[in-house]
Amino acid sequence: MTKLTWLSHGGWMIEHDNHRLLIDPFLTDNPAAVTSADQLEDVAHILISHGHFDHVADAALIANENNATIVAIYEIAEWFAKTQNVQSTVGMNIGGQLELPWGSVKMTPALHSSQLPDGSYGGEPAGFVVKIDRTRIYFACDTALFSDMKLYADDVDIAVLPIGDLFTMGIEDSVKATKLINPKKVLPAHYGTWPPIAQDANHWADRIRKETAADPVILEVGESISF
Ligand code: NI
Ligand code: MN
Repeated sequence: MTKLTWLSHGGWMIEHDNHRLLIDPFLTDNPAAVTSADQLEDVAHILISHGHFDHVADAALIANENNATIVAIYEIAEWFAKTQNVQSTVGMNIGGQLELPWGSVKMTPALHSSQLPDGSYGGEPAGFVVKIDRTRIYFACDTALFSDMKLYADDVDIAVLPIGDLFTMGIEDSVKATKLINPKKVLPAHYGTWPPIAQDANHWADRIRKETAADPVILEVGESISF
């Protein structure tokens, strides 16, 4: 069994057998978080989608406390190794796939920007298709709508899409993305953290139900779905 938990904002935790994987954990300076970074134990891998502070801020601390491996695009993996003293990193790039003990991670494109907090070049922003057993989960991460999503994430079991607008796609484009990808379930992310990205998730879910074939699943912060 696999459990997917929303850590709030763009942050997720996947638990499968004894493995824990985080995606973009953002907890310490996050007013919406209900978990603190030092509460996360037994983390094996941390995927980082891009260099913005609301995605990288807690990763080095969690990686070093758990001896976890940070997986990111080459430039960000190097930044964690050289400037944040992270012992274990794997650099990859868009289109590449990484095999892990519990499944695989494919790095997909994202339409966004990616400067690191100290001004370093963060390479290109990314999303991920995570495969565990036979379940495929697409984390679009911070991105605008783009049609190549269909090539990378066609018919995934679960799609995790931003709906916050302003910095990423909003509700309208998230509905369009859902039509393109045709996932079985779709989960909203990257909203509600601060007033500028507040959204009515129930309104989003109504539109998903009416306009797409997907089943919308709204999680509260800290809540999980299992599959
Ligand atoms: Ni961003
Ligand atoms: Mn962000």
